[in-house]
Amino acid sequence: ASEYQLEAHPVIPKGKPFLLVVLDGWGENKEDEFNAIYKAECPTIKSLKEGAPRRWRTIKAHGTAVGLPSDADMGNSEVGHNAMGAGKIIQQGASLVDNALEDGSMFTGAGWNFAKESWANGGTLHFIGLLSDGGVHSRTDQLFALMYGASDHGCKRIRVHVLTDGRDVPDGSSIKYVGQLEKECENLRSHGCDAKIASGGGRMYVTMDRYEADWNIVERGWRAHVLGDAPNKFESALDALTKLKEENPKLNDQFYPPFVVVEKDGSPVGTIEDGDVVVNINFRADRVIQISKAFEYENFDAFDRVRWPKVKYLGMMQYDGDLKLPSNYLIAPPLIEGTSGQYLCANGVRTFACSETQKFGHVTFFWNGNRSGKISDELEVYHEIPSDNIQFNEAPHMKAAEIAKAAREALLSGKFDYVRVNFANGDMVGHTGDLEATKRACEAVDQGVKVLIDAVEQMGGIYLITADHGNCDDMAQRKKTGEPLRDETGKVAPLTSHTLAPV
Ligand code: 3PG
Ligand code: CO
Repeated sequence: ASEYQLEAHPVIPKGKPFLLVVLDGWGENKEDEFNAIYKAECPTIKSLKEGAPRRWRTIKAHGTAVGLPSDADMGNSEVGHNAMGAGKIIQQGASLVDNALEDGSMFTGAGWNFAKESWANGGTLHFIGLLSDGGVHSRTDQLFALMYGASDHGCKRIRVHVLTDGRDVPDGSSIKYVGQLEKECENLRSHGCDAKIASGGGRMYVTMDRYEADWNIVERGWRAHVLGDAPNKFESALDALTKLKEENPKLNDQFYPPFVVVEKDGSPVGTIEDGDVVVNINFRADRVIQISKAFEYENFDAFDRVRWPKVKYLGMMQYDGDLKLPSNYLIAPPLIEGTSGQYLCANGVRTFACSETQKFGHVTFFWNGNRSGKISDELEVYHEIPSDNIQFNEAPHMKAAEIAKAAREALLSGKFDYVRVNFANGDMVGHTGDLEATKRACEAVDQGVKVLIDAVEQMGGIYLITADHGNCDDMAQRKKTGEPLRDETGKVAPLTSHTLAPV
């Protein structure tokens, strides 16, 4: 590990702790009534901007500055934590997939050839993934390119299992994306490829759990996609979305229940069977690791799969570099070497990393370049505080106080040189679009930060408070002019997604 040996740092005091706090989803944005941070009581964080002895500046956290395809791409936690953890900008999954589609290498690689064998032998090609152009986990244009690519390469039967978004894109937009996909399917059918949507559900309720917060989410998806089993059956996906919403007008895109598309006789149009191939279209890892395990692992006990079809399973990328999961994938993930953790461990720095479940993998897995293991068992402690399984505007303080307490103890214990935490609130509550709750979320974070700054100062250490991308700094959808977008009644359309703000 000598390549990672470092000289003593000229500024960081030796023997004193260094504290790093990531405020998830906390951008520096226009100070108006839709900026939850500005409207909340956040005296600690506001005081950080007041100058000496503190230093304050903003940095870009979106677009090409962080390795995303374009400057229209908002930042997200994967890019943010990958970049901070590695101390460098990495060409992200989204860009790598775009490049491979553009130069055609997508359709000549080992992953594609492996997938092709299945439909050459009569198997159905299934796609599963987040259906939007949010660009955080996946993109519809990439899905469509793969569908047409498959058809061009002789595929005769495609089934798509859609997860509606409303989190990286506005709530209600899933109708639009499903409509677009229906059209592409129709077009493919008219060219001799039987393409249909087979099942679906909302991303926060079906399939896309992360960090094992709630396996029920993945089980619902498995039953709908694989077994064709869900309480809701409709003759089309568009029908599913409109009728479910009529039944329950409060339903949002993130939380649609699972549904299955059926023929007139009630039989599912596209269960997943032996000999089929399943491609997960998400390029981002965290929310598809669990479903990938369900497809790939022979020994699996997180839930009862009922039936485990013998399929070829591929990720858009390989999602976990330590687990080599999944073993087959379309595009090789960015190789992230020389992460800060590798340097720090090689130099004997004792590290305490902590967050609650929803962001735990952000300060460990993403931080370490999408590797699920530890770098050093002797030097590192990774401490997870279980998140509640609720919609977070119901309890906007989340686990901020518990994280602060655990990290404070770590700082005061003298056992760690480096304490790294992530406060999830600004992001997770920001994603609900609930402005009032998001203000409470910001206040909980501010109080947590105060506890930690006090502790690190008491120990004579130093600190860095930063963020991965914006979210709670703007809670309103905007017109081109910057004016908030309002509905007929004058109500402001909530912004559930991240922002382009610097941090
Ligand atoms: C999510 O997965 O919750 C959102 O798509 C992105 O949020 P994150 O990048 O802050 O995790
Ligand atoms: Co987020």
